[in-house]
Amino acid sequence: MHRYKPIIDDWEAFREACGRTAVKTVRRNCIKAGDDFEERLRREFDSVEQSSWNPDVYRLPGTDLPGKSMLHWLGEYYVQEESAALPVKIMNPQKDENILDMAAAPGGKATQIASEIENCGSVIANDSSGKRLQSLHANVYRTGSASITVTNYDGRQLPEDENYDRILVDAPCSGEGDQCRRDFDPAPEDEIEGLAELQKQLVEKGARLLKEEGTLVYSTCTIAPEENEGVVEHILENTDLELERIDTEAPHTRGVERFEDRSYSEEMNKTVRVYPHHLDSGVIYVAKFRK
Ligand SMILES: C[S@@+](CC[C@H](N)C(=O)[O-])C[C@H]1O[C@@H](n2cnc3c(N)ncnc32)[C@H](O)[C@@H]1O
Repeated sequence: MHRYKPIIDDWEAFREACGRTAVKTVRRNCIKAGDDFEERLRREFDSVEQSSWNPDVYRLPGTDLPGKSMLHWLGEYYVQEESAALPVKIMNPQKDENILDMAAAPGGKATQIASEIENCGSVIANDSSGKRLQSLHANVYRTGSASITVTNYDGRQLPEDENYDRILVDAPCSGEGDQCRRDFDPAPEDEIEGLAELQKQLVEKGARLLKEEGTLVYSTCTIAPEENEGVVEHILENTDLELERIDTEAPHTRGVERFEDRSYSEEMNKTVRVYPHHLDSGVIYVAKFRK
């Protein structure tokens, strides 16, 4: 991870956070959670803190297995990293919209979209992995996300007879966000290159599927600028998508304009990077485009 020392805003805090276990967090599911949700959550867990930037997210310090609670099985909450709840907040889905989640399994963000629109609208939750669709189906069922239809395409092959108001490309990535808590090694270079290419193709497809004036959010849980800013730069040069500045109350730093021998457009400061020390959670990179 020393490769990234020049671009991480507080290297010591980053290293320290990577050495700690992340605080478990759950996201309230508006479809199933009752009015007394918070009261019941506080009865179930010793320590409950509401997230500073997303009132639906609760931090449970000292809890290891929130997935074992009845509130989980009843679908009243979804166990989700605090950082992972950011892309959908930024996408800002609205009721009655036609929405596509291009790489959706196991469904953390697709069920978050269904919760935000309270099941009023259509959410296509697509994933290319048949195996991962099992957990996607289970999560859709448990959370009562009736607005979700599950499909099983390679995202690059999705039919173009439908257009969407909003698209999420929560891309397959080198996952250095998880890695930094384990062995602290960056992902191999060829893996990063291959994934960056796949991400470019998925976002290009998203650009074709998006309605005029529509919003596309691209996110990864990795640090490598070849995937994040490198993909955004390619999209700006090769599609009619434009970057929109992200403003969020979640602690973050901005996308980078320079890394090793590469430089990226100064527009990268419209995108955000969240590291483990920002939220005591995972890594997330988010860019928001408008067609
Ligand atoms: C970061 S995970 C998605 C996590 C999910 N959005 C969530 O919040 O639970 C990336 C997903 O991309 C899927 N994937 C990989 N290649 C794909 C492709 N070509 N088209 C569609 N999905 C793909 C993987 O199976 C994986 O489930």
